[in-house]
Amino acid sequence: MTNLEGLDLQHIFHPNTNLAVLRQSEPLVLTRGQGIHVWDNHGKRYIEGMAGLWCTTLGYGDEELARTAAEQIRKLTFAHLFAGKSHEPGILLAEKLVSLAPFDASRVFYGNSGSDGNDTQIKLVWYYHNALGKPKKKKIVARQKGYHGTTLATAGLTGLPPFHANFDVPLDFIRHTDCPHYYRFAEAGETEDQYSTRLAENLEKLIVAEDPETIGAFIAEPLMGVGGVLLPPEGYFRKIQAVLEKYEILLIDDEVICGFGRTGNPWGAQTFGMRPTSITAAKGLSSAYLPISAVIVPEFLYEPLVEPSGEAGLFGHGFTYSGHPVAAAVALRTLEIYEERKLYEHVREVTPQFQTRLAALGEHPLVGEARGIGLVGAVELVSNKETRASFEARHGVGAKCMNFCQDHGLIVRAIGDAVAVCPPYIVTDEEIDEIFDLFRRGLDETLDWARKEGLV
Ligand SMILES: Cc1ncc(COP(=O)(O)O)c(C=O)c1O
Repeated sequence: MTNLEGLDLQHIFHPNTNLAVLRQSEPLVLTRGQGIHVWDNHGKRYIEGMAGLWCTTLGYGDEELARTAAEQIRKLTFAHLFAGKSHEPGILLAEKLVSLAPFDASRVFYGNSGSDGNDTQIKLVWYYHNALGKPKKKKIVARQKGYHGTTLATAGLTGLPPFHANFDVPLDFIRHTDCPHYYRFAEAGETEDQYSTRLAENLEKLIVAEDPETIGAFIAEPLMGVGGVLLPPEGYFRKIQAVLEKYEILLIDDEVICGFGRTGNPWGAQTFGMRPTSITAAKGLSSAYLPISAVIVPEFLYEPLVEPSGEAGLFGHGFTYSGHPVAAAVALRTLEIYEERKLYEHVREVTPQFQTRLAALGEHPLVGEARGIGLVGAVELVSNKETRASFEARHGVGAKCMNFCQDHGLIVRAIGDAVAVCPPYIVTDEEIDEIFDLFRRGLDETLDWARKEGLV
């Protein structure tokens, strides 16, 4: 262990980490990156098969983004958007985002992370309904296995147990409805369409039981990323949206992973037929070169806030770094690069190779389901393909597979026993082959290990 690992274990309070496991192991310390590769402090090279945290869409070390950031730091290092102040990168980025939005959008509220973006969404829903004289319409419905962040409010929207345990969340205005994962949760003989119908009926039952007059919004990712790359079943959003519209419930579309091309279209909403009221974007917005998030809203959501903010003295929400000019300049350049370098088209071009190689992993003895779309996918490891039986969590089979892959120079991510892969958009067909060759090797070694342990 070099000094860096030791110092890390002494001083870093790691986010989203199993602290007990980390204490028995050591961190992977990265020192540099270029293209789709990163290097650790021992000089070992890895393919960053997760684009960091589903976010470095343009890969590492892009000169144009580096130049954009440096120029903006020299030109106007900082400016804010409070109290009527403004700056060019913030204005131009907002105009760009409004033009890209897949609905009749008009305005952008900036933050620094996907979590604070979704937190802003909740506060907007509340302010809006208060302004309309509907103060009871405050509950937010999210889904089991959804992921929307880890702030005090958004950790509760997130429907994954480790984000609730010991934190005393969800707060009391949050409700959860079914996770739409056909492979795991459909009943025997149920078609995808029937399954979607059942989930929409369950949502309606929940809304009616809670009283529709108390439900302000429904929040959903187009596909569930952190939940394990779960794609909505056929007809899902069409049926869910019919229920939301019936009870005048807003649909917040969390595009933090899907936004800007990940699923093969600029927005996941376009891929899966969602009709969002508003969108949260982050990650690919700046290719993760700098932290920035955007909440994109229609005018009808904004207009009712104007008068009450006057009465209150101001619209009292915002961050010092809302629309930070350096982050905004980098984000604007990122969005231009997607178009100039034809990256939306590139994702569609390499998708067949990616999805064919992913689907082939479905034949592996350990893989119950191989699922994905565009440049994102996952395999779900099972102890019995016929019965779809899962491994017991304590065996950490997914983590084992992730570690074997990492030993061979491929970074993937274990989410329980689903192992996800989500490379930068710049990946080539040849690199996709390399990713899946290494992934298969990791799976083979996991199988050998599982046999030795008597798990299969
Ligand atoms: C769909 C989704 N929403 C929100 C978030 C939270 O974003 P952040 O970690 O930037 O707060 C994430 C992070 O992975 C996400 O995947």
